[in-house]
Amino acid sequence: MDLDNIYCGDCTELIKEIETNSVDLILSDIPYGISVEDWDVLHNNTNSALLGTSPAQLQAGKIFKKRGKPLNGWSEADKKIPQEYYNWVCSWVDDWLRVIKPGGSVFVFAGRRLAHRCISAFEDAGFIYKDMIAWNRLKAAHRAQHISCIFDRRKDYVTSEKWSGWKVGNLRPVFEPILWFMKPYKIGGTLADNVLEYELGAYNENILEKYSQKSNNLFNIESLNSDRGLHPTQKPLKLMELLIELTTSKNQIILDPFAGSATTLIAAMKLERHFIGFEKSEEYYNIAKKRVCEVKNSLNQQLFIF
Ligand SMILES: C[S@@+](CC[C@H](N)C(=O)[O-])C[C@H]1O[C@@H](n2cnc3c(N)ncnc32)[C@H](O)[C@@H]1O
Repeated sequence: MDLDNIYCGDCTELIKEIETNSVDLILSDIPYGISVEDWDVLHNNTNSALLGTSPAQLQAGKIFKKRGKPLNGWSEADKKIPQEYYNWVCSWVDDWLRVIKPGGSVFVFAGRRLAHRCISAFEDAGFIYKDMIAWNRLKAAHRAQHISCIFDRRKDYVTSEKWSGWKVGNLRPVFEPILWFMKPYKIGGTLADNVLEYELGAYNENILEKYSQKSNNLFNIESLNSDRGLHPTQKPLKLMELLIELTTSKNQIILDPFAGSATTLIAAMKLERHFIGFEKSEEYYNIAKKRVCEVKNSLNQQLFIF
């Protein structure tokens, strides 16, 4: 498989073509399994209204189109969603362990609701779970209805007054977990030996200052306008760059099996790392491919000028 390329297809198949112990970092924003889009439905859907499949929802337009399952009113099938998410992670995680070098890091954006299932699947496969980094994205859309509105609609103003200030749903979701795993180094060896052999296993504290971050596991990074518009779950380029520089050196190889619009790959390219990306959706693959080509060209031009 050629380096510095993005491939269109199912990553669970494509990864089989990657050599064992050949990748230095896997950095991936995997589907969270919260039904945000078709590609994010990872369970046996028994709800015909999910993602606007009913005629009423299609008619209702954009907001309803992306409607997920409500948190209450679970059916027996809905209760199995976390288990099915765990099984889905288990279906590919062994290959991640195989391709990454000993001491190599894996960063996974996994979402707050099912991150615990992802951690269990990685641990069960043999990864070391190092830490959970909190990405504070500073701003986040928030939908939590005032419960008093419901009583107002029922014209029950006494109850509405009693519950004034109370909301249903969650608090504003300003942080996202980034799960940090490591492939164990050789049994009988030390971490220092591993660093010497693979140049992996430690992290570079010095680069945190460049990103205006303190030496702790809370990263405050805002999405800029340039970080939007290519993918519904596009991540900030600066955040991907930070994670890459934290754990790898120049010319090492970064893999993103769920590449979306290729943010990880662009970050790798800018930092003079090699990359491999996979993306299943033809639509996002085309967007990603175009983005990769544009950045490649502009970086080549810069080289030519200097
Ligand atoms: C959370 S998004 C990644 C967004 C990315 N971080 C960005 O900045 O654009 C996950 C992507 O994984 C893709 N995907 C889902 N299942 C896949 C699979 N089995 N193989 C490859 N790609 C897959 C989806 O199409 C989606 O674009």
